[in-house]
Amino acid sequence: MFCKVASMGIVGIDAFEVLAEADISRGLPSFDIVGLPDIGVKEARNRVRAGIKNSGFEFPVSKITVNLAPADIKKIGSFYDLPIALSILQASHQIPAFNDKNAFIGELSLSGEVKSVNGVLPMVIKAKELGFENIFVPEQNLQEGTIVAGINVFPVKTLSQLASHLKGRTRIEPGMAKTFEYKDVQYDVDFKEVKGQLKAKRAIEVAVAGGHNILLIGVPGAGKSMLAKRIPSILPPMTFEEAVETTKIYSIVGNLSQDNPLCFNRPFRAPHQTISLAGLTGGGSVPMPGEISLAHNGVLFLDELPEFARATIEGLRQPMEDKVITISRAKSKLTYPSFVMVVAAMNPCPCGFYGHPTKKCKCTPGAVEKYLSKVSGPMLDRIDIHVEVAPVEFSDMASNSEAESSEEIRARVTKARKIQWQRFRNLSFNCNADINAAYINRICKTTKEAANMIQMAFEKLSFSARAYNKILKIARTIADLDEEEIINAKHVAEALQYRSLDRRYWR
Ligand SMILES: Nc1ncnc2c1ncn2[C@@H]1O[C@H](COP(=O)(O)OP(=O)(O)OP(=O)(O)O)[C@@H](O)[C@H]1O
Ligand SMILES: [Mg+2]
Repeated sequence: MFCKVASMGIVGIDAFEVLAEADISRGLPSFDIVGLPDIGVKEARNRVRAGIKNSGFEFPVSKITVNLAPADIKKIGSFYDLPIALSILQASHQIPAFNDKNAFIGELSLSGEVKSVNGVLPMVIKAKELGFENIFVPEQNLQEGTIVAGINVFPVKTLSQLASHLKGRTRIEPGMAKTFEYKDVQYDVDFKEVKGQLKAKRAIEVAVAGGHNILLIGVPGAGKSMLAKRIPSILPPMTFEEAVETTKIYSIVGNLSQDNPLCFNRPFRAPHQTISLAGLTGGGSVPMPGEISLAHNGVLFLDELPEFARATIEGLRQPMEDKVITISRAKSKLTYPSFVMVVAAMNPCPCGFYGHPTKKCKCTPGAVEKYLSKVSGPMLDRIDIHVEVAPVEFSDMASNSEAESSEEIRARVTKARKIQWQRFRNLSFNCNADINAAYINRICKTTKEAANMIQMAFEKLSFSARAYNKILKIARTIADLDEEEIINAKHVAEALQYRSLDRRYWR
């Protein structure tokens, strides 16, 4: 007897349909799973055998072969236990046949309980796209599944409970599709605690408003880390689509809150300098998204940039440019998205005081050069805004007057972002930093005076083509903060200022 049961698998952040096909025939008793299973899926044999027996069913004493189709994509994970068990129960006539509009996901425990799995959100999204009407998921993953409207998501506790539902004896009720409300988080840090540093704060505001990468460079104790750590408090809200995209990644790594699974706050990831290349960009023996993908639609903060291994920093070049990272494996290619704003902070030299107005730097010119060269030219070119964080003035530090709060800055940033959402509503990107080269001239219209200013700077300062585009994009953001449709000379002048430090330090 032959039966098939639909399920879902994961490649990268997207899902695909998997059919568990069971064949039970006469012959020496055996149980094989074929169809490119990895070691984890092979272990399903033991769980399924025990799960079936301990749920009050019989495990057929026959030759059992389960094929996971399509056979050319590697099957990773434990979510096939449930469809494998159901296909065997069906093929041995222990549960009735059901229609092909049902899909099943779940890991089995030896006792027959259905345990939570990672990646339920992308699987439910795909199942809906493929026209499935019902999807059965582990009870603990219900909230995540009901983010998707238009498909019935059933919470399953045990194999015997599900069998009873399929036999029509007891009924499992599908979860209600959620309507999500955006909730502001309260941060325990605020920009009002940072005294002075108006120039750096303005640069950060521009960077966040347009999603631009930013490098803060300055002497120790100037407040670089302090400023960067306050960036989450001024990030604009996410659109629902952005929230779902980010949640998909956290669903795959199994890092979602059960009660409130939708990530409505932009991620802020600050990996330590010792992180490996695979940790940062993704990979590993069972490929997983790296920090750059975990920061998707949010911020990746690299504090003390030159302390990261050079190869690790360089590994960011491709995903920063392409906004996706592709990991190649013998039989597959995985793609993870990486729309991130990179924030980096560093000292200008090993002792930290190179360029300090009063303190003397103790480093030799060679040591300074070696330190700075850890950040390569191409990497620097990808960072839109470079800003020097000077030591805080005593008068600022001693002053009692309160600086502008994060809430006020965030209001301006959000206003500028809303202009961008409106502008890019039918395009594949949604902030100025990500404007595709093909659209730059159409979107970044300048006055004649502004165009002349860029031309002069380009000729005098030998900017790269990328730097030229970045200047236009930054100027676009500054104009959006001013609510101006056309970029003028003042906007360009400010944008040019943000591209001058590389010439000062990286001569
Ligand atoms: N502008 C400022 N206003 C108020 N406090 C400040 C300011 N700048 C620095 N500080 C104080 O100094 C401490 C050190 O600042 P921070 O760690 O941000 O410096 P940094 O520039 O990152 O230094 P390093 O280069 O050594 O990493 C902060 O925790 C804060 O208490
Ligand atoms: Mg610091």
